[in-house]
Amino acid sequence: MSDILITDDGPIRTIRMNRLEKKNALTLAMYQAMAEAIGTAATTTAIRCLLIAGGPTAFCAGNDIGDFMKAAGSGALGAPILNFLYALARCEKPIVAAVNGNAVGVGTTMLLHCDYVVAGDAAKLSTPFVGLGLVPEAASSLIAPRLMGQARAFALLVMGQPLTADEAKAAGIVNAVAAAAETDAQALAAAERIAALPPQGVLESRRLMRGSPEEIVARIDEEAEAFKVRLQSPEAQAAFMAFMSRKR
Ligand code: COA
Repeated sequence: MSDILITDDGPIRTIRMNRLEKKNALTLAMYQAMAEAIGTAATTTAIRCLLIAGGPTAFCAGNDIGDFMKAAGSGALGAPILNFLYALARCEKPIVAAVNGNAVGVGTTMLLHCDYVVAGDAAKLSTPFVGLGLVPEAASSLIAPRLMGQARAFALLVMGQPLTADEAKAAGIVNAVAAAAETDAQALAAAERIAALPPQGVLESRRLMRGSPEEIVARIDEEAEAFKVRLQSPEAQAAFMAFMSRKR
């Protein structure tokens, strides 16, 4: 079965990460599939709302660390990663997310681009970029301080302190906390409520609230340049080796 499942049901396109044996760590192919699913939603009139979901106990463990090691060797981040981040930043249709289990790295930063997030009560959001010798990505260095203030953004993005679902709600990342078994249903219900609104009104309101995406895109590019350099750093190499060879 595919690592990304895309289902159109009426006005809602669901993009479900489905590499559960690796806790939904994202490969380049998965980024590309998600980028295309978001991009083509723009030109599919029938689609009014996107829903990003993971598995019952894992939302997304971030970038595949084996891929990070390969990217460090090639000196390039991989176009599919940027394609996905640009698609998120430029998406004009509302995005809902359903988060159960761990949302690590891009698993958390993608939520900063969503419009409505439902998290299961055991969900945990974390961005251990700096501990891995890296820097924040997905324009999180711009969006997170605006959303939650410098102090909380520093603890999340630099110190790598995880957020519980309730803390993420208090920080403004999450709209609603649900029992884990109810997360997907509540997120779908929110997507249905959004899809039932007058579509042009939704698009125009969202555009007014967000402004031009180009500031976000510029920050994605700036972070990506720093990220590429950091990937090749001895700090990052040591952290990746430690993860890949850890004993459990
Ligand atoms: N890249 C590659 N493989 C990953 C991965 C990642 N980001 N995250 C998890 N996996 C793999 C593990 O290596 C393991 O593979 P194996 O069964 O072949 O050994 C499998 O997924 C299950 O992971 P495991 O660590 O046993 O699950 P867990 O429930 O104990 O912990 C996490 C889940 C997400 C907390 C933990 O896997 C983790 O910290 N992953 C790394 C997250 C990360 O640092 N991402 C990069 C952010 S920039």
